[in-house]
Amino acid sequence: MQKSRLLTISKIEKNTPETVVLTFDVPVDAKAAYQYEQGQHIILRRQIDGEDIRRSYSICSSVAENNLKVAVREVDGGRFSTFANNSLKVGDTLEVFPPTGHFNVDLDPSKTRVYAAFAAGSGITPIMSIIKTTLESEPDAEFMLFYGNRTGRSTLFRHEIALLKNLFMDRFSFWHFLSQEDLELSFFSGRLDGDKVTALTDNLLSIDKIDHAFVCGPDAMIDSVTDALKTAGMAADNVHSEKFLSEGQPIVSSKRASDMGGTAKLTLIIDGDEFNIRADRDSAILDAALDGGADVPFACKGGVCCTCRAKVLSGEVDMVLNQGLEPEEVNAGYVLTCQSFAVSDEVTLSYDA
Ligand SMILES: Cc1cc2nc3c(=O)[nH]c(=O)nc-3n(C[C@H](O)[C@H](O)[C@H](O)COP(=O)(O)OP(=O)(O)OC[C@H]3O[C@@H](n4cnc5c(N)ncnc54)[C@H](O)[C@@H]3O)c2cc1C
Ligand code: FES
Repeated sequence: MQKSRLLTISKIEKNTPETVVLTFDVPVDAKAAYQYEQGQHIILRRQIDGEDIRRSYSICSSVAENNLKVAVREVDGGRFSTFANNSLKVGDTLEVFPPTGHFNVDLDPSKTRVYAAFAAGSGITPIMSIIKTTLESEPDAEFMLFYGNRTGRSTLFRHEIALLKNLFMDRFSFWHFLSQEDLELSFFSGRLDGDKVTALTDNLLSIDKIDHAFVCGPDAMIDSVTDALKTAGMAADNVHSEKFLSEGQPIVSSKRASDMGGTAKLTLIIDGDEFNIRADRDSAILDAALDGGADVPFACKGGVCCTCRAKVLSGEVDMVLNQGLEPEEVNAGYVLTCQSFAVSDEVTLSYDA
């Protein structure tokens, strides 16, 4: 299990009226642990009003920049995002977990590939890292960005995108959609969704030329854009998406485990130590572990961020939701413990595997 560390905030920039970009100072002895890949995210943890809050934020800088930077957009009533936008100061510390996630593809400088990204709102954050890293690492790559926002003023990384256009004039192109502003070309007014993508693939975008597409934004946008890309002929394996979701979504129990009722014996391996817990079958394994006093990792509790990933070494569990693990990980026995329920009488899981 990866350990968190207190990191000092070295810079805070207001990128839009409701978004701050936080830069962390990573000490030399922590550089290796905080080295990231494009599209990865970190978990920030802080006690706020006596509550242990952990939230995931995508790194927005390129791998070559090697600068641990995230953008936090304030959401109405949001506990961490309101705190980050209004109370954090340069010099404050936050507990930061090392980068994680696989919202990316392996890059290869010898390849000539075409990429497209579809981002809405704060979904641009990992996309910025992906675009910059790809264009810097693959000298012949082309990248197209389709980006949706409410207004020009609320557009995150507006200036950075303009700079990218200048820097990679021949290889980077950008289309901007605004849902609350009337634009000269009416096609660009309105939400970036599946219908817009279908109109693009019917007229402008040759889907067979795109090697990989990245999609990030609200859930409904991700689903409709992904469907439109697949309907237009893109292979599902080449459409990559990242969902942003917050704690607070009710966890649906496993009907199979609930119907069986009673308790199961859980053996959890964490940092080489073994914890034995008796868990109600209708409690998620993560909740049972936390209630039992085990220091298990988690962030979103919504089946998205994969922080709570563990490998089932023996026994049977039912995972009711998975929005983050790849099919290969599931086949290899990994589960998201925040969404998994013990079915067999005894289950052994490792958070170290
Ligand atoms: C892998 C991953 C990467 C992420 N990257 C980023 C990022 O780069 N930048 C960023 O700003 N956020 C990102 N998020 C979302 C972030 O983790 C938090 O969920 C978000 O900041 C809200 O947290 P909060 O504590 O302020 O809100 P909470 O107190 O958890 O929620 C308060 C209310 O706001 C609603 N809400 C929560 N999240 C959103 C949202 N995104 N949009 C609209 N309403 C919401 C909730 O349903 C709830 O009603 C990411 C999430 C994941 C899983
Ligand atoms: S805590 Fe995020 S997927 Fe389980």
